[in-house]
Amino acid sequence: MSHITWTTETLYEELKSVTLGGNICLYTPEICETLVPKINRINTLKKEKNAIILAHSYVVPEIVRCVADYVGDSYGLSKQAKNTTADTIIFSAVKFMAETAKLLNPSKNVYIPGTFNGCSLADSITTHDIKQLKKKYPNYVFMCYINTTAAVKAECDVCVTSSNVYDIAEKIDSNYIYFLPDKLMGKNLINELKRRNCHKTIRYWDGSCYVHEEYNPEMIDYVRLKHPNISVLAHPECSPDIVDRADYTGSTSQIINHVKDTSHDSYFLLTECGLTSRLQTEIPNKKFVGTCTMCKYMKANSLDNIEAVLKSPTEAQNISIDSETRHKAIHCIEKMFELAE
Ligand code: 13P
Ligand code: SF4
Repeated sequence: MSHITWTTETLYEELKSVTLGGNICLYTPEICETLVPKINRINTLKKEKNAIILAHSYVVPEIVRCVADYVGDSYGLSKQAKNTTADTIIFSAVKFMAETAKLLNPSKNVYIPGTFNGCSLADSITTHDIKQLKKKYPNYVFMCYINTTAAVKAECDVCVTSSNVYDIAEKIDSNYIYFLPDKLMGKNLINELKRRNCHKTIRYWDGSCYVHEEYNPEMIDYVRLKHPNISVLAHPECSPDIVDRADYTGSTSQIINHVKDTSHDSYFLLTECGLTSRLQTEIPNKKFVGTCTMCKYMKANSLDNIEAVLKSPTEAQNISIDSETRHKAIHCIEKMFELAE
């Protein structure tokens, strides 16, 4: 809700239900009092500069609830970036998402607030790696997860997100797919296609997300012992052991919709804890169990660096992609939209 003027009381009311965010997502009236002036300044600056803030659900709740114009998963954020009429996009998430926005809407200024940028998946593969793979597997379609750099996308045939990876792999006109860079999602893809009776040969790269690979099946067994009727929800970046035991697997936005559409006693989300924080503010009457696992890259976004980038962006915060890379990379994102819609 970036259109209202916040007070300490309204902000505390909005964020007080967050309990799973660890120490950096802790909201007392005193903490809210320090956040309110920053939030109100950001919302005024945004109007002055004709800027919008696109945020991923993993960033801290004060960004998600108070200054973001749109919050979503990689797919939803890409669509918003493509269609916005604002002059400037502040992308409060990770760099590959901001690069995707620039690819889709190159005439806009696209800025990332933080300077600590990365993603363990996007950082796990280079263009040199793909060029070698393409030589080794010339008959394969190269399918990249959106968690890749623009330069890597430029070498691939089709892009996917966690919300459409299985459907696009099933639909794509090839029986040989090289999926990169997530080995756990690659294994989940093989299992899901088998369940769908779709016979394709899938190879995958060796990357993984350092947040999602940490979960182990014993965590689920333990939580189920304590909470027998709990609903366990997982992201497809988790290992197949986790996905097999989960009641539902989906992208971050699909998980949100699933929680909103169901009424279980409690929920255990096996994904970055910003998603649980977001749900705790949006549906405070539902119960969430679990611990906090944070993505250090997503959590590097703050009100301070958003305000600073709105006032005077630095070169390091400006996303720019050379025209050759853009020309080569955009087709694999457009192919995704064509197959996903
Ligand atoms: P979603 O597209 O599901 O939001 O996933 C992005 C991501 O980086 C998960 O770790
Ligand atoms: Fe990358 Fe993992 Fe962070 Fe998602 S949670 S942005 S995959 S490091």
